Amino acid sequence: MITKNGISKYLREDVSVLVYDELVSTNLTARDLAEESNKDTLIAAHRQTGGRGRMGRSFFSPSGGLYMSLLLHPTMPSHKATGLTAAAAVATARAIDRVSGKKSEIKWVNDIYLDNRKVCGILAEAQIKDDGFMKYVVVGIGINLTVPRGGFPADIAGRAGALFDGDMPQDADNRIAAEIVNELLPMYRGGLLVSDYLDEYRKRSNIIGRDVDVMRIVDGESRPAKAVAIDDVCRLVVRYPDGVVEALGSGEVSVRGR
Ligand code: BTN
Repeated sequence: MITKNGISKYLREDVSVLVYDELVSTNLTARDLAEESNKDTLIAAHRQTGGRGRMGRSFFSPSGGLYMSLLLHPTMPSHKATGLTAAAAVATARAIDRVSGKKSEIKWVNDIYLDNRKVCGILAEAQIKDDGFMKYVVVGIGINLTVPRGGFPADIAGRAGALFDGDMPQDADNRIAAEIVNELLPMYRGGLLVSDYLDEYRKRSNIIGRDVDVMRIVDGESRPAKAVAIDDVCRLVVRYPDGVVEALGSGEVSVRGR
């Protein structure tokens, strides 16, 4: 079970650690904390009652998962936030591999997959100041460690998976939480150099060369395309059937036939 001492045992970076049994959302608690603290802080919970996902969706967060948010206070312009989420995906994939012994993949923009199933989602939320710099950023990471009792809900059962088939190895949750921080913070504190994460992000990417559906955020409309590349600022480059090429900075892409 995740505990403050359990995580701290494996941590090599200087962050405060707060662990709760149940929260509405670790991202919301981190955002509240940001109003009163300048300390980089890891907030984790055993379960969430209102887990938040991307695109306004909810994130299923029962016991048996790892739900954590890293509250950071970057002194960098907000456009660097894209790099932070890409670096967070790479850091999380490394941590998952180290502790599970498996090889995880990244589905643009920042979902982590094992054996063709989504095992982790990442939601970064930033507060931007008038000068365009970030006041704070919250990097929220949710990982399915084990399959929940009763299985995943019907709407995600077809694509959700867990890191471990049966019981979780002793301390795996504390180790993964700490290793994510150990991987991400040096990149972040070193100024988020693209060379720290982009090659690996590309190598772990599981949709390049595949037929995808691109969903437009404005109207939710989907268009078929081929995923061609990840460009130098981590955008997904897609080619539509009429030959038009577009670099997507955000949005939702699903792989056809998966
Ligand atoms: C997604 O897949 O859409 C992103 C999911 C992000 C979930 C994590 S769990 C910890 C943190 N707290 C939240 O409410 N959301 C993020």
